Amino acid sequence: MHTAVVGLQWGDEGKGKVVDLLTARHDVVVRYNGGANAGHTVVVGEDTYALHLIPSGILYPDIECVVGNGVVVDPGKLIEELDSLEARGINGSERLFVSDRAHAVLEYHKMMDGALEEFLTGRSDPEDNRSIGTTRRGIGPAYADKVTRTPAVRMGDIRRGGAALQEKIELACELHAQQLGSLGSTERPDPRAILESCRTWADRLGDRIIDTTYHLHGAVREGKRLLFEGANACLLDIDHGTFPFVTSSNCSTLGIPAGTGLPGRTVDTVIGIMKAYGTRVGAGAFPTELDDAVGERIRERGREYGTTTGRPRRCGWLDLVAVRYATMLCGVDSVACMLLDVLWGLEEVKVCTSYRLPDGSTTDRFLPDSDLLAGVEPVYETLPGWDGPLEGDCAREELPAAAQGYLGFIEEYLELPIGLVSIGPERTQTMVAEHLV
Ligand code: GDP
Ligand code: IMO
Ligand code: MG
Repeated sequence: MHTAVVGLQWGDEGKGKVVDLLTARHDVVVRYNGGANAGHTVVVGEDTYALHLIPSGILYPDIECVVGNGVVVDPGKLIEELDSLEARGINGSERLFVSDRAHAVLEYHKMMDGALEEFLTGRSDPEDNRSIGTTRRGIGPAYADKVTRTPAVRMGDIRRGGAALQEKIELACELHAQQLGSLGSTERPDPRAILESCRTWADRLGDRIIDTTYHLHGAVREGKRLLFEGANACLLDIDHGTFPFVTSSNCSTLGIPAGTGLPGRTVDTVIGIMKAYGTRVGAGAFPTELDDAVGERIRERGREYGTTTGRPRRCGWLDLVAVRYATMLCGVDSVACMLLDVLWGLEEVKVCTSYRLPDGSTTDRFLPDSDLLAGVEPVYETLPGWDGPLEGDCAREELPAAAQGYLGFIEEYLELPIGLVSIGPERTQTMVAEHLV
């Protein structure tokens, strides 16, 4: 039984918590996209872990973790993450495999990410800000090098080292130095320092960098159960998200085959993760955004501040038009509704069920183009709120009637079952339907 976990909104839906819960029923946890732009939180008792590059399954002692070829790997960050886990008694090094085909995120990618963002900020006219609000983790420039091909450095290059690596790094530094200059940046990459770091990384990670495609096919043949951990989220998908305010990978489930080398039919069950409301970090259209006291209340109660960058997240009502689009793209079988507890105490809650277009007509189709989406007005259904606080260890049937009504409304609209309801960050604060147990 192979399962995929994927975010149905703009990220931070609680994928880390769900992956952690499902890991117990799998053998291998696999990342297939993104990089250190992801921040997945897992709370285990008193301990909170924020994982960026390492699959969240690493917290279980016998689970193998694979970083597939579709991920862009910042080797320094990966080692930092391994070290900080080790300092907390979790030895992940022997259970982690990194694809030799995964592209490396190097210093100049982070410089380029910052320089591009500054360039797009519109220095001459602050009104004309076209910056994306990236995490500045070098994600876009690393994927750009992959597509451009010649200046790209893969993890296998770092493992092998030698003159071939030196040539690649020198060429990449020269090219990026020119680009940085033309963007008005004074930063310049130092090829010698990067090569030195590569040697250190190769010493530490060398035997962890393998052909993960053959490795994963072998695991499937041996009957091991794979859990695919989507990073970022469907509405940030480079092809199907709110372009251009997206990330640079296929973060819907459509990224799984390309990002792992496994055929698409490998996945048996797709679990789509959504918050009970909406959030977004960075720029881009967000029709249901609340710029008022309710939005502020959601941000404070949900502690909606970025796991990777600490930025306050934009908050708003649940947009079911957007979520239904994401469930369609990702082939979702079952939905997990997270952070339901955050909405307690509101007199009423609103859910967006269609959009009003600039010409006055309405549609229940999502518009995956940020400029077009910015022109729609959400049409809401208003539902009764419920009192709280909601506590853990209760069955879904024990939730306040209005909260059950809210979940029922979502199921009906999406024509999908909600198999998991989460009412707090901890493992115990979860209601799981029988078909997921
Ligand atoms: P991810 O990127 O999808 O893994 O999500 P993040 O970890 O970035 O953000 C989700 C945040 O919500 C984390 O701080 C989680 O600990 C927290 N969280 C997860 N589920 C719940 C829940 O049901 N209720 C509350 N209050 N917090 C939750
Ligand atoms: P997880 O896995 C929320 C957003 C950034 C920015 C845009 C592009 O924790 O859900 P990038 O650095 O990728 O070039 O930034 O995408 N973004 C995320 N937002 N959660 C994430 O990951 C994100 N990954 C990227 O905020 O708007
Ligand atoms: Mg996150």
